[in-house]
Amino acid sequence: APSLPAASSSLAPAPIPSTSLPIYPPAHYLSHPPPTFQLPHHLTSFSYSPSRDLLLDPSNKDDALVWYCEPRVGSDLHRGFGEAVWRDGGVDEGLDALVDTLSAWAARDATGQADDVLCKVSVITWRGMMTKLMLAVYEAENAAMGRRVDGWEMNAMVLDGCLYLEESNPPSKLAAKAASESSNALASYYGYSFESFCTTSSPTPTTSLSSASAAAEEFSVPNTNVQWCSVVKTSLGEFRTIVGGEVDCVRPGADKERIETRDFVELKTNLVIQSQRDEVNFERHKLLKHYVQSFLLGVPTITVGFRTRAGLLSGLQSFNTLDIPRLVRGKPHAWDPSACLASARSLLAFIHSTISSHPSTLASPSSSEDCPIFRLTFDPSSPTGPTVRLRQLNAEE
Ligand code: A3P
Ligand code: MG
Ligand code: MG
Repeated sequence: APSLPAASSSLAPAPIPSTSLPIYPPAHYLSHPPPTFQLPHHLTSFSYSPSRDLLLDPSNKDDALVWYCEPRVGSDLHRGFGEAVWRDGGVDEGLDALVDTLSAWAARDATGQADDVLCKVSVITWRGMMTKLMLAVYEAENAAMGRRVDGWEMNAMVLDGCLYLEESNPPSKLAAKAASESSNALASYYGYSFESFCTTSSPTPTTSLSSASAAAEEFSVPNTNVQWCSVVKTSLGEFRTIVGGEVDCVRPGADKERIETRDFVELKTNLVIQSQRDEVNFERHKLLKHYVQSFLLGVPTITVGFRTRAGLLSGLQSFNTLDIPRLVRGKPHAWDPSACLASARSLLAFIHSTISSHPSTLASPSSSEDCPIFRLTFDPSSPTGPTVRLRQLNAEE
């Protein structure tokens, strides 16, 4: 067994890492200026093929890239439901695709820019994990207001000073996820079908969008294995981060050889808003999630397709991501992105410093095999108040 560093020293006490961090109400995080957030910069990209193969060579990394084309209002999102190909939700993919993509990118970079970025980075993760960290403060508030809120779990390790965060999917959780997905399969399908109606694999649409039959030709039956992902660098407070995430499409005419985050478009579906209550829910919950998700990757445009329960597309609305906070500001159900940034930054500081100063991390050599793994658990409904806990996993877990 590796020998642990001396537990007591007469000069400096061994660090006693705190193992949990409370999540306070949003107002707590608004008493100081928010941490800086650097505009995300697209570094590289990769694709998943129809059979979920990872494509990261220059010749195929953008195979899944598609361009936005406006869908016809009245389109039937139910189309193709029986023939869709669904990704196997039981497979735990971890961070492999992101790490492999970064290695390939660095290996073919002759300028030294990639090495420079990689040696300064302090957090590498998927956009989904950053979204969870950013939303925890409002999930805690939702739980306090009696809404049913799910917590989350992540695995974390610090290797060479860089924090790696991935989703934790124990078998029991994967099974529950698969069951919920199959019961929501139709609503979920409408989301993917909308993406298909909105996208084309040609940068400049050749068909006339005014013709209903031409627009309908853009539809191809969804295969949820297929994804195009951007890897960006950004920073939150003192943390330089590299974040990977799926991008639904890019604006028409965007140049495949010079992709930038300002080309990105996020697509969402929503039930038609019919009441004041629907509108409040949309602004309070949906717009917050859409904003945070898109903001983290620098996606400037979110196009929402409103649909009926039966899946007919009834209207479209595009939002400038950065204008969204202003739409809700001052309303009774307002949320403030500064609270998300400040709480996410303090979570990163807690996680990074606790793991970095933990004796088992200090004792471990610089190799990912021997690096100790920590489990991060967010329990928004804890009897002692919403808390994020951190503990080291033992070898069997
Ligand atoms: P909508 O968001 O339009 O409902 P994303 O918006 O992140 O690109 O995801 C695309 C679609 O995948 C979603 O469309 C939804 O249909 C489906 N989806 C994403 N996350 C899901 C989840 N946690 N459970 C069920 N379906 C999900
Ligand atoms: Mg998507
Ligand atoms: Mg989407």
